[in-house]
Amino acid sequence: MIYTDKEKKFKRYTVTTALPYANGPIHIGHMAGVYIPADIYARYLRLQGEELFFIGGSDEHGVPVTIRAKKEGCTPQDVVDRYHAIIKKSFEDFGMSFDVYSRTTSQTHYKTASEFFTKLYNEGKFIEQTTKQYYDEKEKTFLADRYITGTCPICGNEHAYGDQCEKCGSSLNATDLINPKSALSGNVPVLKETKHWFLPLNDYEAFLKDWILENHKEWKTNVYGQCKSWLDNGLQPRAVTRDLDWGIKVPVEGAEGKVLYVWFDAPIGYISNTIEKLGSSWEKWWKDKDTKLVHFIGKDNIVFHCIVFPAMLKAHGEFILPENVPANEFLNLENDKISTSRNWAVWLNEYLEDFPNKQDVLRYVLCANAPETKDNDFTWKDFQTRNNSELVAILGNFVNRTVVLTHKYFEGKVPQSYELNDTDKAAIEEIKAYPEKIGTLVETYKFRDALFELMNLARLGNKYLTENEPWKTIKTDEKRTSTVLNISLQICANLAVLCSPFLPFSAKKLQKMLNLDCNSWTQAGNIDILSVNSPINPAELLFERIEDEAIQKQIDKLNESKKQNELNNTAAEPQKENIQFDLFEKMDIRTGVILEAEKVAKTKKLLKLKVDTGIDQRTIVSGIAEHYKPEDIIGKRVCVLVNLAPKQLKGIESQGMILMAENALGELSFVTPEKPFNAGCSVR
Ligand code: MF3
Ligand code: ZN
Repeated sequence: MIYTDKEKKFKRYTVTTALPYANGPIHIGHMAGVYIPADIYARYLRLQGEELFFIGGSDEHGVPVTIRAKKEGCTPQDVVDRYHAIIKKSFEDFGMSFDVYSRTTSQTHYKTASEFFTKLYNEGKFIEQTTKQYYDEKEKTFLADRYITGTCPICGNEHAYGDQCEKCGSSLNATDLINPKSALSGNVPVLKETKHWFLPLNDYEAFLKDWILENHKEWKTNVYGQCKSWLDNGLQPRAVTRDLDWGIKVPVEGAEGKVLYVWFDAPIGYISNTIEKLGSSWEKWWKDKDTKLVHFIGKDNIVFHCIVFPAMLKAHGEFILPENVPANEFLNLENDKISTSRNWAVWLNEYLEDFPNKQDVLRYVLCANAPETKDNDFTWKDFQTRNNSELVAILGNFVNRTVVLTHKYFEGKVPQSYELNDTDKAAIEEIKAYPEKIGTLVETYKFRDALFELMNLARLGNKYLTENEPWKTIKTDEKRTSTVLNISLQICANLAVLCSPFLPFSAKKLQKMLNLDCNSWTQAGNIDILSVNSPINPAELLFERIEDEAIQKQIDKLNESKKQNELNNTAAEPQKENIQFDLFEKMDIRTGVILEAEKVAKTKKLLKLKVDTGIDQRTIVSGIAEHYKPEDIIGKRVCVLVNLAPKQLKGIESQGMILMAENALGELSFVTPEKPFNAGCSVR
């Protein structure tokens, strides 16, 4: 019987992992954030004898898939077929122990998601709303936000998307863009009315507040905090349909050309995948109140799993809600954000080419460094150190010494244990505590700490061997050596059980070495796992040192990505279309002086400036906070476009724009008159 933190009893577990988008391979960020912790959890529960269904699958809808298809000149189905296969293989290679790994283009999923929508539709759980959206008249299609590009009203980036500016990070509405363009045809899109179905999240606000804020205070603080902030800000109706031709058709008359929004259908994929695998016996995993549902996700998925999906499940009425959503933060790589488009990542498939059979090393490092409470950094140096000084020097070394000595002195058979002295008794007491210590940490999603405790058991083993020196006592007191090696082997056996959720490949190897069949967590905690006289196999190295050259090769590879990116960016931007002089003349650009500067609260990029333009002193909001500190720019001479129509930014009216130069690395520099001219001189 399992207990939650609130001591509620459950009979079984349904464990889900975020379904990765099938538009690219899997990298270490995905693994550290979601899949490694989830797999440790699932493997641990199985060893505890719990009933469990562990769900994975590919998320195959959404606009990014269609964009990729267009770029590559193939169909969206081609794209997802390709990446689904790659992702599935990576997960298998790394030992993900899913009970099912399916996909959201399966027949079962289409049926399940359509029925889900239809039930809510028939019961009047949606509201219909007609809104104006950009439409491409040439391509005769509505444009998803991602399909519209234009100039960011905040930082002036000309390649901002309709949902977000990737330069300054602001989230945008497509209608905010200056000079919007369709990414399909390059034409200027027009606003056209379109009807969509919305889930009125506001109707579920009270329920969600009570359910999360009152009844799930035990959730991780990063998760609880994000939920609280969403709920405190008030929920709005959310569209659950889109104008797109890739996805699940909206199963309603008059909805031609519309599909379910990817974030509506994808989480239903957890249910579909269960149905696909289990057929008619699926229901207890999703409908029985005695089932504990746990979602493993990354932080960018929190709102969907804690607010939107639960509201959908609640609206449907037949399903259980998640008991916990242990979301992780993000993993960075060598102090830089992991990015697919900049090829700044360690891809699982490439890792295994360079480090064959070293799945567990990566599993270990990613768990030891998991971004459980804050963003964290993966570096190749740290990878090497953790391998060499932890896996090799502590765990591998202890097992190796023990097994080698057993072969040397006792012909490879587990020797007898005679009289126990105080050090033995103390060690045994410590060993006893480990299964529960590690188990409790895993059950409360503290995987890093759990792994650390596992290594402490290996540390204990090393210390025990070193202090008792069986290689010395063999000459004077063979019985003593026999006892010490018996206990050391029992520690190895404990490790073989306890490490298997974390390091499944090495656990197998170790179990084979010890001729041990581990299938239960409760085997551990004792010193009679291995029976006296049972044979053990010759020592085999569990881990091997990773030398500097191998690490340098990885660092070189990343440096190459960086260089390629810089080169791509350095290619001078193509010259824009010619304009007439009178258009240029309409711009009133002046020299100015910055008088005051302060950060705009709750933004990363924005500074609020007071600028003397020679005409007046005015407020300008500028996206330069990551490049200049407010105190460093007081008195700076700048150039200002003074007749730009004012715009509200974060509740502040910005009256003009400061001109900035930007280099290939995205660094910004003020454009400053080369002589110390006063404010108000015109620039032309
Ligand atoms: N594909 C999404 C992402 O990678 C996750 C979807 S999770 C699910 O961010 F709930 F929708 F399945
Ligand atoms: Zn921007």
